[in-house]
Amino acid sequence: MTDITNTAHVPVMLKETLEHLNLQPNAFYIDATFGAGGHTKALLEADVNVLAVDQDPTTEVYMVKLRQGLAAERQANFIAIHGNFEFLESYVKQADLSEVAGILMDLGVSSMQLDEGERGFAFRKDGPLDMRMNPEGESAADIVNQFDQEDLAALIFKYGEERYSRRIARAIVEARQTAEISTTQALVNIIQQAYPKGGYRRDHPARRTFQALRIYVNDELGVLERALQAAEKVLALHGRLVVLSYHSLEDRIVKHFMKNASHLKVLTKKPLLASDEEASLNPRARSAKLRVAERITL
Ligand SMILES: C[S@@+](CC[C@H](N)C(=O)[O-])C[C@H]1O[C@@H](n2cnc3c(N)ncnc32)[C@H](O)[C@@H]1O
Repeated sequence: MTDITNTAHVPVMLKETLEHLNLQPNAFYIDATFGAGGHTKALLEADVNVLAVDQDPTTEVYMVKLRQGLAAERQANFIAIHGNFEFLESYVKQADLSEVAGILMDLGVSSMQLDEGERGFAFRKDGPLDMRMNPEGESAADIVNQFDQEDLAALIFKYGEERYSRRIARAIVEARQTAEISTTQALVNIIQQAYPKGGYRRDHPARRTFQALRIYVNDELGVLERALQAAEKVLALHGRLVVLSYHSLEDRIVKHFMKNASHLKVLTKKPLLASDEEASLNPRARSAKLRVAERITL
């Protein structure tokens, strides 16, 4: 198989993920967040079949590379779809899968999305204030330039859990009276100036506001709720749902859903975390929380 691991994205908790998917030879698994394909590649190498989904059209190049690396007779075992994982049910129908033995959701953004300033996700890189994983609909710049002050403060508080949301919203509204805010660094400067001295702690002052805008722009929490419901429906009996989340808002939704879903049994009372070794090698793994549930009734 062609090596595509020379990409920036290192798959998180790979061993734990595969273990908890409880792989059955020749069965079909869904990788709902393909990214650079790290998890999918390992699944294919373990001789199971994969339906991979990603809403970011730039992941297609990794999908194509992965397919090219497969032996001809294995290519039908890998189905790649550009789309939003909230529509899992229709992808399963479209691919005519009779059974889905497990589903992986590795939430959030990929290292590629963060590394390319052009995408506007990163507060450490300059670029247009975009943040759309799938370039449709409103961008972060639209929100920042059009929302009124109160709505902005509420959004930054709700999705960023940012305690200085009101100050930041006020500073944004003041700044945009002079010039439209169209780049990540323009927004970072505004946030930095709005932050009280000593308010920094360990976080970059822009981190929470950027998280809030990204969640809102991509409707990440609404989509996650709907995707989890779809996942429960398409899973076969004894199929596993494995979710990796990276912040508390996501993790809360996953935990609550698994606990209350009528067909699922929670297999992880507490979320699993990356080993110290992995966390030291891969900063993205430090905030990862892995939760697993199994479908126990039809
Ligand atoms: C953390 S990365 C996944 C990395 C992947 N597991 C790997 O090892 O390369 C998350 C990916 O999920 C995708 N994504 C996020 N939300 C999505 C959604 N609602 N539907 C489909 N893909 C989504 C992002 O575009 C991104 O590529």
